[in-house]
Amino acid sequence: MAYQLLKGKKGIIFGALDERSIAWKTALRVCEEGGEIVLTNAPIALRMGKINELAQQCNNAQVIPADATSVEDLENLLNKSMEILGVKLDFVLHSIGMSPNVRKAIPYTNTNYDNFLKTLDISALSLHKLLQSCMKLDAVNEWGSVLALTYIAAQRTFPGYNDMAEAKALMESIARSFGYHYGFAKKVRVNTISQSPTITTAGSGVSGFDAFFEYANKMSPLGNATSDDCANYCVSMFSDLTRMVTMQNLFHDGGFSNTGVSQAIVEEMQKAAGVSGS
Ligand SMILES: NC(=O)c1ccc[n+]([C@@H]2O[C@H](COP(=O)([O-])OP(=O)(O)OC[C@H]3O[C@@H](n4cnc5c(N)ncnc54)[C@H](O)[C@@H]3O)[C@@H](O)[C@H]2O)c1
Repeated sequence: MAYQLLKGKKGIIFGALDERSIAWKTALRVCEEGGEIVLTNAPIALRMGKINELAQQCNNAQVIPADATSVEDLENLLNKSMEILGVKLDFVLHSIGMSPNVRKAIPYTNTNYDNFLKTLDISALSLHKLLQSCMKLDAVNEWGSVLALTYIAAQRTFPGYNDMAEAKALMESIARSFGYHYGFAKKVRVNTISQSPTITTAGSGVSGFDAFFEYANKMSPLGNATSDDCANYCVSMFSDLTRMVTMQNLFHDGGFSNTGVSQAIVEEMQKAAGVSGS
């Protein structure tokens, strides 16, 4: 259902790789809600060409390449987006994550530090670079909303998540710190959404993903939040209905983060141990 919550609002969506991407679903929902967008991704990801299909479905949105680790690319993206959209931005979605250590299945306890630094640069510092570029170019309107996607491995250990855990912890901290400065300076709000495990290219690359997807689903009173649910939440966070929310890490996980153990998991453990329940 569309409510035109973003009518007249304009922004940039990073990270739509294919139909499964959370950013892909969010781009579609934002347009359904009346928002106007520019799409961006790393030049190498754009070579797949998939994003042009999405652009067509989003009222022929423009696609501008930007490696989120390059300040030069980010400044070019922001300048061109303001030119194309004709005004400053109201919203930005940072939906970016990549760990060379995860990709190469290098264990956390035998990490490659060059890879580790790349993980932090791509998955966390990119948010700082984006926000700093936005502030320098005065690219975001007052009450604009910048969102980045994160995972609960920032707070609790999930062994297969590897160095992405540190990246997410750093990114959440950047959102808080920059949110403070940007809020006082320009009333721009900055938040992170901590999403349930979701079947996407980045998600499925994490070792043991299928198991912790199922585990989270059984632990969460509402079940796992899907990428469509996440897209809806992003829309609400870009809208004026949430204008006093900033510097928050918002759990969007069906209740997983506040559940100790669920009855379904207890029963599975009992079954595995050959113990009958009460
Ligand atoms: N899938 C999950 O289970 C899950 C759960 C919680 C949070 N998240 C987060 O959601 C976000 C989106 O991931 P997704 O699951 O939709 O997967 P995805 O693989 O579809 O998206 C990740 C995107 O990051 C982009 N990217 C990588 N390096 C980049 C760079 N240098 N510059 C610009 N873009 C770059 C990729 O091209 C891709 O589009 C990520 O931050 C991810 O960590 C995912």
